[in-house]
Amino acid sequence: MRYYIDTADIEEIRQANKRGWVDGVTTNPTLVAQTGKKHHDLIKEICAEVEGPVSAEVISIESEKMLSEGRELAKIASNVVVKIPMIEEGLIAVKRLTAEGIKTNVTLVFSPIQALMAAKAGATMVSPFVGRIDDTGSNGMELVSQIIQVYQNYDFNTDVLVASIRHPMHVLESALMGADIVTMPYKVMKGLTTHPLTDKGLAQFLKDAQKVPQ
Ligand code: E4P
Repeated sequence: MRYYIDTADIEEIRQANKRGWVDGVTTNPTLVAQTGKKHHDLIKEICAEVEGPVSAEVISIESEKMLSEGRELAKIASNVVVKIPMIEEGLIAVKRLTAEGIKTNVTLVFSPIQALMAAKAGATMVSPFVGRIDDTGSNGMELVSQIIQVYQNYDFNTDVLVASIRHPMHVLESALMGADIVTMPYKVMKGLTTHPLTDKGLAQFLKDAQKVPQ
């Protein structure tokens, strides 16, 4: 399973990369705005840090404008993936960008039928937002399971990129379901490494090591 870091913070990307946790990066307009940097400059900076795909989101909602934006973003670096919102106009842009050999990530997906439509348009990846579904009292991971089932039924090549991940159980369940990619904030990544019994066991070993004759 591939790990993407969901951030626009270069320092977080560097720290995660150092630990081998960055197969790619996802950004969105909210994350970009938090940096105070220009979108184009920021994406260029991120692409220079990582070898894997870097999702950069368009901010237009009309297909022709999304296309122009997407083409400009794709020129920044060969690993840019154009992130397009899951709306009808977005699917027109996805189909055209795909035909031009530009990779796409269809974002803000909240139903298996939306994911099916994105795959039919030729999306490279599709992003179901599990945490935001959980927030509404429904089960976000159930959506992921249904998308995987639908894609398997018809042999779609679109990758399932589980997004809006909030905690380790989202990652574990994604892995058990066979999701292709998970994208998560750095603080969630860090939480995947810890276990109280590891800390307890290590403390005991260090204590006992003091008793070993030198
Ligand atoms: C994914 O591509 C999105 O940027 C992200 O996962 C959204 O997460 P949030 O719901 O925590 O904002």
